[in-house]
Order: sequence, then C-alpha cells, then structure tokens
Amino acid sequence: MNHDIKDLTLAGKGNDRIEWAAQSMPVLELIKQRFSEEKPLKGIRLGLCLHVTTETASLCRTLKVGGAEVFLCASNPLSTQDDVAAALVKTDKIPVFAIKGEDNTVYYQHITSVLDAKPQITMDDGADLLSTLHTKRPELLSQVIGGTEETTTGVIRLKAMAQDQALKYPVIAVNDAMTKHLFDNRYGTGQSTLDGIIRATNRLIAGSNFVVAGYGWCGRGVARRAAGLGGRVIVTEIDPLKALEALMDGYEVMPMAQAAKIGDFFVTLTGNINVIRPEHFKVMKSGAIVCNSGHFNVELDLPGLAQISNHRREIREFVEEFTLKENGHKIYILGEGRLINLAAAEGHPSSVMDMSFANQALAAEYVLKNKGQLPLKVFPVPEKMDHEIARLKLQAMGYKTDKLTKEQVKYLGSWDAGT
Ligand code: NAD
Ligand code: ADE
Repeated sequence: MNHDIKDLTLAGKGNDRIEWAAQSMPVLELIKQRFSEEKPLKGIRLGLCLHVTTETASLCRTLKVGGAEVFLCASNPLSTQDDVAAALVKTDKIPVFAIKGEDNTVYYQHITSVLDAKPQITMDDGADLLSTLHTKRPELLSQVIGGTEETTTGVIRLKAMAQDQALKYPVIAVNDAMTKHLFDNRYGTGQSTLDGIIRATNRLIAGSNFVVAGYGWCGRGVARRAAGLGGRVIVTEIDPLKALEALMDGYEVMPMAQAAKIGDFFVTLTGNINVIRPEHFKVMKSGAIVCNSGHFNVELDLPGLAQISNHRREIREFVEEFTLKENGHKIYILGEGRLINLAAAEGHPSSVMDMSFANQALAAEYVLKNKGQLPLKVFPVPEKMDHEIARLKLQAMGYKTDKLTKEQVKYLGSWDAGT
C-alpha cells in the first residue's frame, strides 16, 4: 500500500491516543455504528485533506466502516500528528501522506498522491485538495460526485470559485452548519489556541495585554478564554459591527497600530492577509509574542519581519526569536505563523470535533445520495441534519430540552392574540 509518513513504529501510541479521543466522540460513534450496518459509502473513493489528528482518525474509521476507500493527506504542513498517521496506515490500512514539518513541495506532493487515487468525493479543510484537482488535474473532474469543506477560509475560496464559474462540482459548506462554527470555531479555537500558546511559551496570561485580531467566531472564543485566564483583552477589527460587539462584550477596541505598542500577546484569527506588518512589529515592546490561529500562514507578514531583522534563532520549540535592526527589540513568532493550536498543541478537543466530523460524515453520505442532483455551487448542510446532530450531542451529554405544548404550537402559529 502506497503511503508517506514519518515512522510506522509510532502506530501503538497513535492507536492509544485515537482510542482516548474516540471516548469523547459519541455522535460520530453512533454514525459509525449505523454506517457499519448500512454501508452507505460502499466502494466510493474518498480523498481527504484534513489536519491529521486523533479526531480525524475517528472520522477516517467511520468512513471506512461505511464502505469507503479512504485516502488522507494533511491540510497544513505543521498540523500532522505522526503517531496518528502511523496508526491509520498500520492498523486501518488507510493510505496516509502526511509528515509533520513537511515543506510546501512535499505538502503538494502529498495532495497529488491523494489525487492519484482518483477520489469521487473530496473532503477539504481549506480547499487545497479541491483547488489542486481543478487547476492541476482537471482530467479527474468528470468522476467527482461532490465535496465538503470544513473551514471558513475554504468556504470563502470556494464561493469565489463558484462566483467565477470555476467550481465544477457541488460542495457542502460544513463550516456553515450551526453545529460546526458555533462550537468548533468558537469553543474549539478558543481553548486550543490558548493551549497552543501556553504549550509553546509556558508564559503567564494573567495581567498581560492580549491582542486578538478579528472578532468573528474564532476571535470571540479566543478573547473569552484569554480574559478567563486574566488577560486584558484588546480586539482589533475592520467591521464596525464586530468591533461594537467586542466593546459591549467588555473588551478594549483599537486599531492594530495602537494595539501593537502595548500588546504582550498577539493572535490573528481573520482569514485575511498581512494583518500584522513591519510597521506594527517595529513599535512592539521587546518580548512581544505573536502568533496566528487563522487557516493560512499569511496573516503575519513574516517575510517583512525577516527584512527588518538582523538576527533570528529558534529559542525553544515553536518559538522563533527575531531581533529588529532598528531598536534591537526581540519579537517572538510562534509555530512559523501557522495555526498555533495545531502546530504547538493538538487542535480542538475531541468533544467539539465530534459535531464537526458528524457533519462531515453525514455530508459525504448526503452528497452520494444526491449524486447528479445537486447544483454546481457551495451550499449548506441541510437544516434537519444540523438539528439532529445538536439533538444527539445534547442527548449524549445527558441533557434534555422542554417540548412545545399543543397550546404553544398553536400560539406560535397565530397572529391574532395580543395583550
Ligand atoms: P469569521 O469570518 O467569523 O471572522 C473573521 C473576522 O476577522 C471578521 O469579523 C472580520 O471582520 C475580521 N477581519 C478581517 N480582516 C481583518 C483585519 N485586517 N483586521 C482585523 N480583523 C479583520 O471567521 P472565523 O470562523 O472566525 O475564522 C477565522 C479564521 O480562522 C479563518 O481563516 C478560518 O478558516 C480559521 N479557523 C481556524 C481554526 C483553527 O483550528 N485554528 C478553526 C476554525 C477556523
Ligand atoms: N481543526 C481544529 N482542530 C482539529 C482537530 N483536533 N482535528 C482535526 N481538525 C481540526
């Protein structure tokens, strides 16, 4: 079996960690049980470009039990857990192409290896597999049934493709499901980003000025957790609505040019390019810690930082020290500017990925069931599916909701009853 991973002997450790994660993924487990009986993906080749983590392993096992042939590569050069890659190859016989720390060339070679399997459904986190298929391997398009997309940045890219009429098969925006972004982006990124910063630096957040760039779903989560650890949170935004929300949530709001002068920690979560630039690095305090948790490593202008620096060195794992020519200040960049929660920590906790990947598994089934009937665009997870995942999650957590009485149903459907 073709594969490219770091070390097959890590499989034992990988299997134990996958087992541990699976204990917190009850909704995916229910889907796995049904898939094992019904085999809804029988004989379908699935190409996955996802962060290779313990949670992704549970998804792979679910899809495989459902009858699919699964091929997996990484959706980021620095997010692979090598022991998980080994376990999937050795135990599950899943071809995995992913090595933590691979360079860009190898990253795209690995994507090509998955494409060589001629996937009929693609599953992306950031749209690199789909976009490589469209641009470099268009001869494969005719056999693709559809795809799914995990993250905000991927959905934005795909919508741009659809707008340009460049998208050649339908894609479900898993990110846009309520049971995905409300929880994964907010609580998952919130906890795991702080986890990544703390594991990389072992610095105290309490009493620090903690700058969060972007107050979307991820930014809200990170701001809340940083405040919970005692940081004085400062939010930077370009959208007045989000800025207002941050202000009323109790945070300071100011432009990056101002925040740069006082911040101790900086995290970007915008999905945008060059949010922190040389003009910002130059005015930072010596010792400032800067990282990104948005999808791509473009949010920090690192080539720009290198140009205004005269010395750089790795001072500890995932921490690079840049010394500025102008003033000798030291700026610390974490995880090469790649998403810090997956580079220096283990990504979102399993309990939250349970819902994200329940959406992915059901979305793949939906794409197949509706083969040839879906429009050539990016469309949402069906609302019924989204609500069912929420119901199952709540049930698994041991909580119940109230039910509408007959009188309430009637009242909510009426217009004539006032005061
Ligand atoms: P979102 O659209 O909800 O929020 C992004 C926010 O950034 C918006 O409010 C926008 O106004 C703001 N913004 C844009 N440009 C800005 C700038 N120059 N300065 C300040 N603010 C700016 O998106 P989201 O769901 O929060 O996702 C953000 C990024 O995180 C995306 O790249 C997404 O793919 C990624 N993501 C990462 C993880 C992870 O595990 N680290 C998880 C989910 C999403
Ligand atoms: N994205 C963020 N956290 C993740 C995780 N634990 N597994 C897969 N993808 C992720």
